[in-house]
Amino acid sequence: IPLSHIRNFSIVAHIDHGKSTLADRLIQSTHTVADRDMKEQMLDSMDIERERGITIKAQTVRINYTADNGEDYVLNLIDTPGHVDFAYEVSRSMRAVEGSLLVVDSTQGVEAQTLANVYHALDADHEIVPVLNKIDLPASECDRVAEQIEDVIGIDASQAIRVSAKTGVGIKETLEAIVHRLPAPKGTLDAPLKAMLVDSWYDSYLGVIVLVRIIDGQLRKNERIRFMQNGSVHHVDRIGVFRPAMTEIDVLGPGEIGFLTASIKQVRDTRVGDTVTHEKKGTDKALPGFKPAQPVVFCGLFPVDAAEFEDLRDSIEKLALNDASFSYEMETSAALGFGFRCGFLGLLHLEVIRDRIEREYDIDLITTAPSVIYDIHMKDGSVTQLHNPADMPDLTFVDHLEEPRIKATILVPDEYLGDVLKLCQDRRGIQMDLTYAGSRAMVVYDLPLNEVVFDFYDRLKSVTKGYASFDYQMIGYRTDALVKMSILVNDEPVDALSTMVHRDRAETRGRAMVEKLKDLIPRHMFKIPIQAAIGGKVIARETLSAMRKDVTAKCYGGDASRKKKLLEKQKAGKKKMRQFGSVNIPQEAFISALKMD
Ligand code: GTP
Repeated sequence: IPLSHIRNFSIVAHIDHGKSTLADRLIQSTHTVADRDMKEQMLDSMDIERERGITIKAQTVRINYTADNGEDYVLNLIDTPGHVDFAYEVSRSMRAVEGSLLVVDSTQGVEAQTLANVYHALDADHEIVPVLNKIDLPASECDRVAEQIEDVIGIDASQAIRVSAKTGVGIKETLEAIVHRLPAPKGTLDAPLKAMLVDSWYDSYLGVIVLVRIIDGQLRKNERIRFMQNGSVHHVDRIGVFRPAMTEIDVLGPGEIGFLTASIKQVRDTRVGDTVTHEKKGTDKALPGFKPAQPVVFCGLFPVDAAEFEDLRDSIEKLALNDASFSYEMETSAALGFGFRCGFLGLLHLEVIRDRIEREYDIDLITTAPSVIYDIHMKDGSVTQLHNPADMPDLTFVDHLEEPRIKATILVPDEYLGDVLKLCQDRRGIQMDLTYAGSRAMVVYDLPLNEVVFDFYDRLKSVTKGYASFDYQMIGYRTDALVKMSILVNDEPVDALSTMVHRDRAETRGRAMVEKLKDLIPRHMFKIPIQAAIGGKVIARETLSAMRKDVTAKCYGGDASRKKKLLEKQKAGKKKMRQFGSVNIPQEAFISALKMD
């Protein structure tokens, strides 16, 4: 295919603005998929994605389109993940294409992720075509939203295409705009092979499937290729494209996007952003800017039933094969026994993995409080990384601690601004910017990641009735007065409940935690003290009083079947609990105790 007849693009949008629906409509209207095979959201393949409506893995589809000028074009759409946790993947996949459709819901307007994603696209020097979606709805305000795009993003929106991805209005215009307004890719046919690794995932039949964008040269089946990052060499079993089903072809040339398989066993060996070349006569210049995605949020995963530890190990190993950005190592906790300390790109990533273990592998989990990575500067000048508050070294050797900070961008309607500022302030935020776009405020805050990983997003949604949107990026490490707070139940420290907190907030936080735990832990036959402590000093204390009567007492001794049922219910309840010394702590306590109101 001549370069002049290829267009590579992605769709950038805020969640729910209609990216997947538009992609489906483009696929359908070009008969890429027969109508009878069309199911909603072709591009969201995983169950969890479908359920949550979140696109996680980048996917791609090749569309053949005959334009109004009679010429045949190949349009390659790369679908990028829409969530903040996957910012690195978004920025990499953007570099594989030349243009973007910027989809904005014309009943809503620009949101935080619209901004974050469009900046990735601008960074990658994309030509951008604004698309105003959902014009079938009565609340659609195209002029206002076009103006907002110009004000807030600073790109020309006078030629924005008005679309209803639902009814199909404007789809033809969108396809024409892709052909005429987006640039063709550049590349050299007779240069050494240089391909960018855009994405990879595991398939149980084919092994790892690697999505590549050919920059220069050609790739054929049965050739030997090298991944430049780790030098590994593989024999190419097949190459092909997605329509969106996998279709084998003979050759991939410059400007094209397709897949290869090479009997690769682990996704870990195929890092997004890496350069693929031929083993012999390959290029010696890798593409710039490769850096593997690093986990930033850590938590412990423990089986509720200790007998399921091996099953948990098995499920974690399997998931890790297919997810290079998920890390794990074994952890032993005095309180929770054997489990794993796992690292994630963010909270959504954590939730997705946890859900998959519980659902696909049917293992009940105890998830400990998410923590970020702290840099501990020791008095002897060395620096170590703390992934788990339980491992905090003796303070006499510690000079100071540094924590990761983020730049958070929040867009919110005026009337909720006060609540948002208060929330950010409460989370030790430093305001960096506050501007208005119509009736919406855009606030930028410098916040400790630690204060955001737990329930910031939930709180933000609840104080703004769901109207705020949020996006963030890491900005670096800074020192602050951080201390480790331990929780003692019945005088035993529960390591899984240890957290790092700011010294000025330790007391409030400690009091809130022990009060919550008092409600979460069921009464026992004896009195249970619940304490929060820093070092050896108790800063908050509650006492759970002893149970007065047998639970079955209220059955008046009479009905035996009711009594039996009650005891069975108790037994089932116990399964979800963990024994600490002589105290049972229910699973939900580990997460609930840390939520801040
Ligand atoms: P994520 O996959 O979560 O990033 O969302 P998305 O941007 O892909 O949005 P999606 O395509 O899932 O659409 C979100 C919702 O808007 C769905 O309920 C769609 O049916 C609906 N929707 C999309 N386009 C239109 C449109 O043109 N008109 C109307 N009325 N609804 C639309």
